Amino acid sequence: MAAPQETADETREAAVEAALRKLDLDAKARLLAGQDMWSLPALPEIGLKSLVMSDGPIGVRGVRWTADDPSIALPSPTALAATWDPELARRAGVLLAQEARRKGVHVLLAPTVNLHRSPLGGRHFEAYSEDPYLTGVIGTGYVQGVQAGGVGTTVKHFVANDAETDRLTVNNLISERALRELYLAPFEAIVENAHPWGIMTAYNSVNGTTMTEHRYLVNEILRDEWGFDGVNVSDWTAARSTVGAIEGGLDVAMPGPKTVYGEALAQAVRDGEVEEAKVDAAVRNVLRLAARVGILEGAEPAVTELPDTVDGEALAREIARRSFVLVRNERDALPLKPHGTVALIGAAARDARVLGGGSATVFPARIVSPLDGLTAALPDGSLSYAVGADPNTELAVADQGFELRAVCRAADGDVIGTGSAPNGLIQWMGTDLPDGVTHDRLHTVELTGTFTPRETGPHTFGIKGMGAFTLRIDGTTYYDDVQRPAEDEPFAAFFGAPVPRAQPELTAGEPVEVSLTHEVAVSEDHPMKVIGFTLAHQEPQRDPEELFAEAVAAARAADTAVVVVATTERVESEGFDRTDLTLPGRQDDLVRAVAAANPNTVVVVNSGSPVELPWRDQVAAVLLGWFPGQEGGAALADVLTGEHEPGGRLPTTWGSLADAPVTQVVPRDGELPYREGLFIGYSAWEKESRTPSYPFGHGLGYTDWTYESVEVKGTTVRVRLRNSGTRAGREVVQVYLAPAEAEAEAEAGAERPARRLAGFAAVEAPPGEVVEVTVELPRRAFEIWDEKTDEWSFVKGSYEIQVGRSISDRRLTATTNV
Ligand code: BGC
Repeated sequence: MAAPQETADETREAAVEAALRKLDLDAKARLLAGQDMWSLPALPEIGLKSLVMSDGPIGVRGVRWTADDPSIALPSPTALAATWDPELARRAGVLLAQEARRKGVHVLLAPTVNLHRSPLGGRHFEAYSEDPYLTGVIGTGYVQGVQAGGVGTTVKHFVANDAETDRLTVNNLISERALRELYLAPFEAIVENAHPWGIMTAYNSVNGTTMTEHRYLVNEILRDEWGFDGVNVSDWTAARSTVGAIEGGLDVAMPGPKTVYGEALAQAVRDGEVEEAKVDAAVRNVLRLAARVGILEGAEPAVTELPDTVDGEALAREIARRSFVLVRNERDALPLKPHGTVALIGAAARDARVLGGGSATVFPARIVSPLDGLTAALPDGSLSYAVGADPNTELAVADQGFELRAVCRAADGDVIGTGSAPNGLIQWMGTDLPDGVTHDRLHTVELTGTFTPRETGPHTFGIKGMGAFTLRIDGTTYYDDVQRPAEDEPFAAFFGAPVPRAQPELTAGEPVEVSLTHEVAVSEDHPMKVIGFTLAHQEPQRDPEELFAEAVAAARAADTAVVVVATTERVESEGFDRTDLTLPGRQDDLVRAVAAANPNTVVVVNSGSPVELPWRDQVAAVLLGWFPGQEGGAALADVLTGEHEPGGRLPTTWGSLADAPVTQVVPRDGELPYREGLFIGYSAWEKESRTPSYPFGHGLGYTDWTYESVEVKGTTVRVRLRNSGTRAGREVVQVYLAPAEAEAEAEAGAERPARRLAGFAAVEAPPGEVVEVTVELPRRAFEIWDEKTDEWSFVKGSYEIQVGRSISDRRLTATTNV
């Protein structure tokens, strides 16, 4: 039996102290520096194993960046937030801990709880919401779940990494009040409610200081004020100064082997620049984490009884269908009528985009596309498929039709090893090299094999990566030169665009030899030993008019047309922001053409973040499907057929870029002022009196709800509602708090948004049944950060409690005086 919590904590602390006393300065400094891309060194002298970290947030990639090592891929974080269900987030966390343990990972580099400040933010899909309260609630569930499985988290990116442009250097200028009430708020809630074992400090600066050296935000607020006792790990390569980082409360500098800690830190102590006590404090945090995850001998892990095994595929499917947001459903277009015929249209219906790009990438063992899902769910002969328009006008990782392997050679040409290559992506980190291969001897990697085309015509081949490459196809050398990075981004080889380098005419079914050779140059100075490059490919592009005509004919012949529109990897990923919110390629025209041919047109939007839907009033139904994870197509079939209700509500306002009040992501002279202060998301839309396409909180199910009464006692809100439709359903009851004095306050200079989400709860009921739900409003909902006194101030007075289905569909109100 496990010891009671307090005794267990004390015993663990004692083990940590004992281990710390045994370490000399060099060992301590070494422990604070990554030994490679993902891990810290083992210290056998104290019985400490190597601590392994891995991304996050929708799966656990593990220490290898390859399809050889598959992971369950859950829906995108925006989707998880759209469930408005912290219990589901907790179950996602439990599954991820299970995946982490399977892969030997102790700490998951997740969740991402930055806010959707601007819809252009490149990693929007990877964060939860524009609302700090919803973000904090979902993040809390997630962290609780992961840690219940004995695996640590690093809540990231602390703080204000809300966009990607110049992310390493941008100085975000944010008022103290906006920091407290918006950007710090989810971190604070998660620290208080889920006690995360780690946090990741961001690349960016806040008000002049880079986050890996931010004494005020890290030492004073996160640690002293909130009581955070976990590890503070830098974002990858973010730590720049030995003294600055240790003084600023950074415990671990990642990745290694070359960091500002290790030898440099020991030397700084010897030179009298850093007190050894500061190093001890950081080591104590790392040892505590190691003890919690069970890799410090003699210390009891935080979790001794593991949760029951989770079926990852089933959970991925459940989260997906619960996340889909039905934003429009005219004439009950959905669910589909039984026995009707369906024309499924869109490139993403066949090649689904199930996850966003960048460090959030994982490699699922299987992907259920909408075409797969609907083929399985609908009776034979009732489904047709047409591409319609292909937004993938760019090169993608060589995959379909390629049979490749990686041949490693020494400088003299001797083959020293061969690695498997399930596709055109080579990403070898640290010592993760094919058998027999070492960095010292490795000189070239040749990705070689055959390609059998599906289509006849000009096939485009490209190269992603930096350095010397030779590309040969069918005996012809198309490229033999050096590719250089276009920008100062440490992960350009991972996240940059592939460059087209060859366009041979090939014949369907006739295999050709393909070879891409890369001369490896891992410099001694580079902080990471990574070999990363990609052979990219694109099929011959078919005549767009012909594709359109096929789709329109299919739509005309069917009872319902389902069009899947999507963004691409080049639109939503890491390391860059978006510049517009339009769907790539000719997808908007495709939807219009299909809608003109069939009034029962249902559009499924496959994107992680908001896109503009200019045709939205011309189609029968619009279903936002996010990046739905590996089981997305099965979940889509579940909700289209009506087997399940689409359960999502918008975690973020969807509107056009022209109307969006806050869009700025590009710094000027290195600075990005958050001029809008408290007014982001729905608060900003309301303040500017602008109408979005779909408001925060909006989402339809397959039944109707009548809100019957609301009763408020102090801060307890009780709502009665009735399922007034014809089938069982689930409703997310949202409670907004509107200060009566908002206008007077604005004049007095302490402006508050007209209303804010203060609580929510979900109910389920069969048709006709009345249900009651209680929502307890947190004290914080009534507080503002007072910049004069530097503390939270409870604002007494009269408040309207507004209960409803979205920020703009408020059904009942009541007044409370506090
Ligand atoms: C990202 C982090 C990620 C890390 C490791 C960084 O570029 O910002 O979110 O955890 O890489 O992959």
